[in-house]
Amino acid sequence: MTLVSKDILKAAEILHKEELVAIPTETVYGLAGNIYSEKAIRGIFIMKQRPLMNPLIVHIHDLKQVEELTSSFPEKAQELARVFWPGSLTLILPKSNKVPDLITAGKDTVGIRMPHHPVTLELLKQLEFPIAAPSANPFTKISPTKAHHVKDYFDGTLKMVLDGGDCKNGIESTIVGFENDQPVVYRLGAIALEDIEKVIGKVVVKNKKENAPQAPGMMARHYAPQTKIILVNDVASAIQQYPNHKIGLLLHHEIDNFNEVQHIKYLSKTGDFKEAASNLYGAMHSLDQLDLDIIIAHRFPEKDLGASINDRLKRATQ
Ligand code: TXA
Ligand code: MG
Repeated sequence: MTLVSKDILKAAEILHKEELVAIPTETVYGLAGNIYSEKAIRGIFIMKQRPLMNPLIVHIHDLKQVEELTSSFPEKAQELARVFWPGSLTLILPKSNKVPDLITAGKDTVGIRMPHHPVTLELLKQLEFPIAAPSANPFTKISPTKAHHVKDYFDGTLKMVLDGGDCKNGIESTIVGFENDQPVVYRLGAIALEDIEKVIGKVVVKNKKENAPQAPGMMARHYAPQTKIILVNDVASAIQQYPNHKIGLLLHHEIDNFNEVQHIKYLSKTGDFKEAASNLYGAMHSLDQLDLDIIIAHRFPEKDLGASINDRLKRATQ
């Protein structure tokens, strides 16, 4: 049985023993281990069934830790860190020799993030090492935004889920790196592209679907429910195309009304993108439990967090 508990000291004790704990963050739950323990890091890859070629994000609580982990900290990266940390931004920076190759999949860069969650910041303060944490889901499955999502995935194999409640932002961090000093967004995420650009100007987006991705979040089939899901602009006509099907709907807001469909999840009361993002994976998890024939998801306007939500929905349709 996996322990689900708010006990930060217990979580620290397990991490000290080079074992794994699922941790709450403001984006999604992470599956955490000591970055300096080969046993713990291998354990993360095995538990997630994640290919070793996909690097892990290192989580810190203090800007000073960037020094230990990197060989340089470009000015634009510093500006982003000042504005968005603690928060849903992962910076890809040149790594120091201290960072094990297993974390970075042999790359010369390391992904670093300071999460914005009081429980995990407190946990990190109690540890003398940073922790690596990918999202706490088996490879290609929907990311967890509630403690019980993690327990459902790993019950019995994982020692503990540190319960920090529901993840407020609900989709993964935005990943920003640098190529020849030019900022590049590798994954759209919980901080809107527009907000990044307000701080450092125009950025290149390389959030493409690729077979040999720079980031596994870029893989075509990702965040996928078991149930077939389609992403459409016109929900009414999509419903017509599936007569005699057990349909579920994933809709923007509560004024959308489709009486003929029984299973509907509204992502927001008012169509607010931030609220919709925070409810997205929870809604996908619950629709996926209902043994539906198909989930019809309404495409968001392609701006602000709407673009990040569409990205996750598109990947779920693959
Ligand atoms: O919000 C988040 O970022 C969550 C929470 C737990 O912090 N974590 C998360 O981790 O989404 P994960 O492993 O599921 O996705 C991290 C992404 C992967 O796509 C990985 O390839 C990319 O970050 N990444 C990590 N280090 C990298 C590096 N050095 N270069 C390029 N991409 C990197
Ligand atoms: Mg993930």
